[in-house]
Amino acid sequence: MPCSATKLEEARIYEAREGAAIPAEARPLFHLTPYVGWMNDPNGFCFYQGAYHLFYQYYPYDTVWGPMHWGHAVSTDLLHWEHRPCAIAPDTDADAKGCFSGTATTAPDGRLLLLYTGVQDDGNGGVKQLQCLAAGDGTDFVKDAANPVIGEDLLPDGGSCVDFRDPKIWYEDGCYHCVVSTRDAKDQGRILLYESPDARHWTYRTTLDSCHWEYGKMWECPDFFPLDDRQVLLVSPQEMEGSADGEFHAGFGTVALLGHYDKAQARFTREQVQTLDYGTEFYAPQTVLTPDGRRILIAWMENWATVNEAPRRHRWFGCMTMPRELFLQNGRLCQRPAREIEALWQNTISRRERLNGTAAYEGIAGRHTDLTVTLDAAACPDCRRFTLRFAADERHATELCWTPACSELLLDRNRSGSRRDIPHIRRVPAAPQDGKLTLRLVLDGECAELFINGGERTMAIRLETPAEAKGIIFTAEGPLQMEITHHQLG
Ligand code: FRU
Repeated sequence: MPCSATKLEEARIYEAREGAAIPAEARPLFHLTPYVGWMNDPNGFCFYQGAYHLFYQYYPYDTVWGPMHWGHAVSTDLLHWEHRPCAIAPDTDADAKGCFSGTATTAPDGRLLLLYTGVQDDGNGGVKQLQCLAAGDGTDFVKDAANPVIGEDLLPDGGSCVDFRDPKIWYEDGCYHCVVSTRDAKDQGRILLYESPDARHWTYRTTLDSCHWEYGKMWECPDFFPLDDRQVLLVSPQEMEGSADGEFHAGFGTVALLGHYDKAQARFTREQVQTLDYGTEFYAPQTVLTPDGRRILIAWMENWATVNEAPRRHRWFGCMTMPRELFLQNGRLCQRPAREIEALWQNTISRRERLNGTAAYEGIAGRHTDLTVTLDAAACPDCRRFTLRFAADERHATELCWTPACSELLLDRNRSGSRRDIPHIRRVPAAPQDGKLTLRLVLDGECAELFINGGERTMAIRLETPAEAKGIIFTAEGPLQMEITHHQLG
């Protein structure tokens, strides 16, 4: 619908004034933050006309969630982001209560299509969520006169438009496809598949998967793509229960369902389920396929359960993870830092150390660093525990503590500067591979991302530690052989 555009213009004027006034030092170096105000989920992550575009759930006027707009940033290396004008605002009947999450794809005629959830009044004091289309040139978008393009009439039996959101669109074999999540009448999350010749007229094809009251209830923000010989369905479940083996923690989670997809029959066969990230802040990821064929993921680096208590220290709130490259190894979906980060490496130091006690090493410190520690566990059977403390000073430290006997890594950020009663401890299974355990820690100010064993498991962690706490301290209880590689990032 050609809309009044007032809300969009207002947002663009506001962010150009207020966002531009935020100094670069008040932001992480390469983790994307909103232009100004609030950010949640990544949206519309795509490669379009020679650059990566990342949109996001956005409320420019405050650092708390509000009527959802889509913010917009572009980058050629996934690390240096340039803010672009707000892409869409909640300014039509179909999305008056918010432009919720969605995705983007390029139409054969070269336009960029955004498929997103429009939230509107249901006329009975509640709201409904239906799917809307907008098309544009990568900066300005026009909403479709037929919105919502996926309405209530296209919900299968049991589906509900109270929870019906977060479409993932792609174009393949001359046809548009999208998956959308819903919560059915029996309170379980389901992933629905739709097809369309033109992205405007859709038909419901099938239910690809549902949670069966395992892995949470409502499944938010699906992504669905092939990776090597497997098909991956990513979902972010609400209300997960923790599991005894440490694979799943309670609350908001992000889960990868791995399996096979029979395109002709539109049948997804799920074979394995795993957590995608074991940290304290990670949700609603989206992926993009790079021109050289890599599948890159970015997630919202926050947690709905704790977000309202987090201190507001800047004119922005919320950020994205760094870009992570997905790959399969030993049947698991793994993630490593996108190789673009190597262009930021400076002052590289490599050392081999035999440690029994506590040490810090010259030049290995800072809050913008990429540190890899390889522990030779097989050669050091008498080492009882290894602890890495980072963002440390006399008062602060975030600890990673590995106990070989139980093959478990413990994250403890109780002394990271937080004064909040939120989860500060997470445990993650961490067994050596070929006798060695590798920890790669990427630090960007208040953002820490850990990659265990080359990316077998990951942890995204937000810190509230003052910038002056820069120490990195190694402790081995019992003799330990290790290799350290440290790069400053700049
Ligand atoms: C996930 C989510 C989505 C929704 C959006 C609203 O974090 O709840 O399901 O579209 O946030 O901002």
